[in-house]
Amino acid sequence: MSHTSSLPAEPALHPDTLFDGVDLRRLAERIPTPFHAYSASAIRARIDGLQQALQGLDATLCYAVKANSNLAILQLMAKAGVGADIVSSGELWRALHAGIPAQRIVFSGVGKTAAEIAEALAAGIQRFNVESADELELLQQMAAELHVTAHAAVRINPDVDAQTHAKISTGKAENKFGVSIDEARRWFDQAARHPNVRLDGLHVHIGSQILSVEPFRLAFARVAAFWRELEDAGHAIASIDVGGGLGVRYRDGQVPIAPADYAAAIREALGAFKGRLLLEPGRYLVAEAGVLLTRVIRVKQGDRRRFLVLDAAMNDLLRPSLYEAWHDIVPLLDGPRPHCRYDVVGPVCETGDTFAVERELPELRSGDLVLIRTTGAYGASMASTYNSRPLAAEVLLERGRHAIVRRRQSLEDMVAGEQPASHWESA
Ligand code: LLP
Repeated sequence: MSHTSSLPAEPALHPDTLFDGVDLRRLAERIPTPFHAYSASAIRARIDGLQQALQGLDATLCYAVKANSNLAILQLMAKAGVGADIVSSGELWRALHAGIPAQRIVFSGVGKTAAEIAEALAAGIQRFNVESADELELLQQMAAELHVTAHAAVRINPDVDAQTHAKISTGKAENKFGVSIDEARRWFDQAARHPNVRLDGLHVHIGSQILSVEPFRLAFARVAAFWRELEDAGHAIASIDVGGGLGVRYRDGQVPIAPADYAAAIREALGAFKGRLLLEPGRYLVAEAGVLLTRVIRVKQGDRRRFLVLDAAMNDLLRPSLYEAWHDIVPLLDGPRPHCRYDVVGPVCETGDTFAVERELPELRSGDLVLIRTTGAYGASMASTYNSRPLAAEVLLERGRHAIVRRRQSLEDMVAGEQPASHWESA
């Protein structure tokens, strides 16, 4: 049975070989695969593009740290004047450590603990995006104990369908995020009950990888109507945070929203707002700036399928396993080869450790270098050591040069903190 077809052959040198001026094939001779590589220039271009589109608005970018939390990436954000959207004290620590001022940090998430709230209050972050009545009570209590005033926004759940993957949609009434406008209205009406919380902000984030501007328009319109209603009722609103969610191109045919169109949707709903606008882009700033470099371990011919076994796995890039997400897979080869179809898999002992099914690629052999595209967001940050595979290295590229910004985890690093059960105690 032959899997070879007469499809067009690959060009001799794929343009993807050069990334931010760095020859990835030469890089992969120096750094063992798998590793993540990020283009600093591409990230900066995204920041600049978004900032330009927002010109004239009092808008601050607060990068969603969860998308890629490497300290070098956060340092790049800090230098560009970008703040942070955090969801844990770990992310708070990273953001501060990277030099992002506390005054540019906003804290989102449904499960903030008392300890995390205390840390964020002590650091003096800009504001808490509060997601439940219980959290509001806790914030009041903690701020009173510390004799400070917490600045807070209520996260509105606008009940809008973001038209994205169900696992990354957050703005529907059945999702765990935010509160209804009815509940938020009560919070403002009863603000006197929380003297240590200055509730003067609105926040909305409806989901991620959004490719149509319509859901944004709907959500922003609902928030804008609520802001006007609150102002009419005498509640001053100092900031409106429009969240993140801008999608990127993972495959041909996907058309991301142009920054100008996104900014137009913000202007249309909130152009008259006199306070500060906050944005929490994650994926948009970093996804397309990242690639995962991996080599073919072997080709395995099964009875029904031909498997391409890579040295990267679901522990290095979870998105295909978790969301059946498409990532382009591009072999970096010397010359043309006939094409065939592969199931592209990793070495992890799970059938779900699959990057692609029946993907058409040039014929590959053991040792060939393969690039997986658009992995700068939710790649390394979602990695694990499953199957005791150490975390992959991360490399920052810029105009022909590279710097290792995370060394490959050693086996000792991997087990650090584990110990034999030699000290038994009774609670
Ligand atoms: N703000 C909040 C409150 C968020 O929850 C998120 C993402 C963002 C901002 C940034 O969203 P972005 O601009 O990146 O779309 N692991 C998934 C994505 C999960 C997004 C979670 N929240 C994936 O790999 O597709």
